[in-house]
Amino acid sequence: MCGIIGGICKKNITPLLLKGLKRLEYRGYDSAGLVVLTTDNTLQRVREAGKVDNLVSNIDAQNLDGKVGIAHTRWATHGKPSTKNAHPHICNNSVGVVHNGIIENFLALKSEQQKQNYHFTSDTDTEVIAHGIHLALQTCENLLEATQKAIKTFAGAYSIGVISPTNPGHIIAARSGSPLIIGVGKYGNFITSDQVALLDVTKQFIFLEEGDIADISANSISIFDKNGLQVEREIKTSKLKNGQISKGNYAHYMQKEIFEQPQAISDTLESRITKDKVMIEAFGNDAQQIFQQVEHIQIIACGTSYNAGLVAKYWLEDIAKIPTHIEVASEYRYRNPVILDNTLFITISQSGETADTLEALRSVKKRNAAVHSLTICNSAESSLVCESELTFLTHAGVEIGVASTKTFTTQLVALALLSVVIGKCQKQVSEQQEKVIVDGLKRLPGLIAKALEQEGQIIKLAKTFKNKFNALFLGRGAMHAIAMEGALKLKEISYIHAEAYPAGELKHGPIALIDRDTPVIAIAPKDELLDKLKSNLQEVKSRGSHMIVFEDEASNVAPMEGMDIIPITHNLGRITAPIIFTIPLQLLSYHAALIKGTDVDQPRNLAKSVTVE
Ligand code: M6R
Repeated sequence: MCGIIGGICKKNITPLLLKGLKRLEYRGYDSAGLVVLTTDNTLQRVREAGKVDNLVSNIDAQNLDGKVGIAHTRWATHGKPSTKNAHPHICNNSVGVVHNGIIENFLALKSEQQKQNYHFTSDTDTEVIAHGIHLALQTCENLLEATQKAIKTFAGAYSIGVISPTNPGHIIAARSGSPLIIGVGKYGNFITSDQVALLDVTKQFIFLEEGDIADISANSISIFDKNGLQVEREIKTSKLKNGQISKGNYAHYMQKEIFEQPQAISDTLESRITKDKVMIEAFGNDAQQIFQQVEHIQIIACGTSYNAGLVAKYWLEDIAKIPTHIEVASEYRYRNPVILDNTLFITISQSGETADTLEALRSVKKRNAAVHSLTICNSAESSLVCESELTFLTHAGVEIGVASTKTFTTQLVALALLSVVIGKCQKQVSEQQEKVIVDGLKRLPGLIAKALEQEGQIIKLAKTFKNKFNALFLGRGAMHAIAMEGALKLKEISYIHAEAYPAGELKHGPIALIDRDTPVIAIAPKDELLDKLKSNLQEVKSRGSHMIVFEDEASNVAPMEGMDIIPITHNLGRITAPIIFTIPLQLLSYHAALIKGTDVDQPRNLAKSVTVE
């Protein structure tokens, strides 16, 4: 949700800013811009609507020469995507600002600032930051003090980078509600929304904490906490490698990430299971004691992570026998839920920075101190990890495609492990049951590799989506959640309207949607609901739709005219089946999107990490 990069070093900063913006583009890509402090100490800005490449082709990086600069790639909130709304925003050639987040009181601030003759040139909320700091500079000693003074007037969420000819050797960086990281280099220091943007120049990072503000020069970094006290923050060494963020031989990040799933799952299981047991400590030192006391579970997440939580509800009730509720974070945070003592509050998130999920966690902690929190997250230094009592990190590696793939299946693995350990702590899982589940999990990388071999067949099926505008996904039990994830994938990258229904619900309304132009995709594992599902398929078939059925070889779905049956594997268990049946749905969406000619890795209107409401 907007990417920020900035730096101050001993050579021209522009090439680094442009390269960093490319790497941050997954966070937002509707416009981009940069401003540098040139050798004659003036702010020189270039902005373009559209993707970073538009900016790159309009900049002569060698001639836009400055050693201090900030840059931004935008996901629009206030003000449509356009050049005038692109960041950086500048006030009186004196303050340049990039911003990620939303200033909620911007209308009130704008009206105040207009009375003081500040002139607005954009429709954004960000411009009040530039004017606010400029105003504060009139009475403050330097840019740090002015920024400290101005941010006291902002309500909402922000991470910002600020430069000014008034203090040419400095960048001011502040974080409140949106992530910001300092890169500590040999020949300069930098700021970024995500480490991946700076891996060419450093692996040393400081993760700013909530309310921190930093004064950064080429050879010094001073950090002040929310009370204005100077603080030391640990410098951490990133384990990320540059190779991890390239597409390799794949056409898209999404395709690469789909094919990385066998490895991502082995990495997530590594050191979390022994020969036939799940290690409770994988969830934190206090996990055993907390899981023994748990009486209720509340899961909160958004999007794909929410779909993972839906699957987990089945597992947690079935295996651990704990009443489990799940809700999307954006709803949960704004209502008055009854929060019982001894509730385990689980957040699931790839980024760990999703604003709704984070705020839901914060609101729960305020309402009831007797809840425990656990986050299942793919980002080790994220806000959710910092603010949760227990953490389980999925080891999916960096996921750049906006559509989540490997992070979903690794979340499912984490939730399967969780169901077993809570079940053990509650004395609901026998050693034999645990062994069966662990054996199934160990088979996953091989089973996924086998499911991926169906890509050729799925490519052929994807062609049927060429002129289609609607699709229906069906599943029963936990497979309904997998159908929801399949529908979400198809919607977001191919722009085909897709709905998912529990197959038994069809006859209560949605069956009216079925016609020849609405392909129906069904998931048919060999389980206790298979016969019911087969009857539902008959109901669909008699309405003339084209059907695609992904089945377990043991399911033996009877072939019918207009029905493609693709066996995915055989004899899957209740834990492995949802994970394996996800794979053909990911491949189907990917190839349908290619047929539709959409931008697979950066679909319209979306951003990878949603750090605003
Ligand atoms: O980072 P999070 O997992 O918290 O993100 C939540 C959703 O925005 C995310 O899962 C989104 O739905 C997917 N990228 C869609 O593929």
